[in-house]
Amino acid sequence: MKKKKFIKIAIDSPAAAGAGTLAKSISKHYNLLYLDTGKIYRMLAYIKIKQKEKYNKKFLKKKIKNLNLKNLQNKNLLSDEVGTEASLIAKDSDIRKLVHLFQIKCAYNPPKKFNGSCLDGRDITYKIIPDADFKFFVTANLKIRAKRRFNELKKLGKKVTYSAVLKNIKKRDKSDYNRRISPLKKVKDSILINSSNLTKRACFLKIKKIIDRKIKY
Ligand code: C5P
Repeated sequence: MKKKKFIKIAIDSPAAAGAGTLAKSISKHYNLLYLDTGKIYRMLAYIKIKQKEKYNKKFLKKKIKNLNLKNLQNKNLLSDEVGTEASLIAKDSDIRKLVHLFQIKCAYNPPKKFNGSCLDGRDITYKIIPDADFKFFVTANLKIRAKRRFNELKKLGKKVTYSAVLKNIKKRDKSDYNRRISPLKKVKDSILINSSNLTKRACFLKIKKIIDRKIKY
């Protein structure tokens, strides 16, 4: 591949594998629009928990249509309660269709100032950006993921225990890998990045090396 102006990166990963941090640093480095697609399901879950009376498909459709990436930065979206509800909502095919439209817009038509897009989630490599220039499956062992998520939630001042976080991640893994619609899976053409024993910097450099081999800006 020679000089290329627009690149699309698709990342799938189980919960708390470090894909978000990685995707953010890669996006910053290559000036790509970054979308953490899990945050959209989390936002809908948060509405379901906090504004139950407003939670209907018409309202959600409007919410997604007017979605601004800043809406997804709300720290309340990060709790395990919201994550669990998000994984239940994510099994609804009507909701997934609405979310897909927004994701496709971000992936294929990011604002002109970007050189492309980078999305992470569960079905990005095979459903949202099947023609991505780069596909990665980022994972780490269960206990390490639980420890990372536990530290992250504690930093946010949440009252959590390691065992509750571990249990939550196990439950979400089970649901995300086994659901009928858009399950989490590693596709053949995605590159496996196991971050269990790698620092954030080492993960970043590993991916950067793969991208730089094919692309020159
Ligand atoms: O990535 P995160 O853990 O924030 O995602 C929350 C939940 O949203 C996941 O457990 C998963 O069920 C759902 N999700 C999904 N498809 C995506 C991203 C997230 O089903 N592309």
